[in-house]
Amino acid sequence: MRSIKIAVIIAALALFIIACDSSQPSANSSTPAASPSATAATASTPAPAASPADELADARATFKQICARCHKEDGSGGEFKDESGTLKVPNLREGHAVSHTDERLAKKIANGGDGMPAFSKRLSPERINNLVRYIRVEIQGKK
Ligand code: HEC
Repeated sequence: MRSIKIAVIIAALALFIIACDSSQPSANSSTPAASPSATAATASTPAPAASPADELADARATFKQICARCHKEDGSGGEFKDESGTLKVPNLREGHAVSHTDERLAKKIANGGDGMPAFSKRLSPERINNLVRYIRVEIQGKK
């Protein structure tokens, strides 16, 4: 009796080992081969496509939120009135804003002056640079 039980257990174990052995090579050969290429594809395709668009998306939202009240959403500027008086807001689509360098525009955004508020405490240099890019690309239509 006992030897039959042992034989059954050994047979079951043998079957189990054979089953594992025959399923593992196929699992090993198919899953690792498929998954790195799958993760590489999902990890690499959206990332480069998303990041430049996101930079401008952030700048676009910032511009709408805090710059457009003076410069208008399209950057055309004009007169801005508040309790303290009337500001002449330059058009960012033409004139000085086009001929001035990126550095000069970034400095103006950071340090302000002559009616333009200073944003160096509210916006990081990176976000200010993205705003300059946004002005160049989407307001002035440049690259
Ligand atoms: C309170 C109104 C106001 C707000 C808000 C404002 N600006 Fe201005 N901005 C001005 C005025 C006024 C000037 C002109 C300053 C001068 O004459 O030097 C100016 C000038 C500029 C210039 C320089 C243009 C040139 O011809 O060289 C840039 C670039 C600029 N603003 C970008 C921005 C950005 C980006 C924001 C938002 C983060 C912003 N401004 C928010 C009023 C404003």
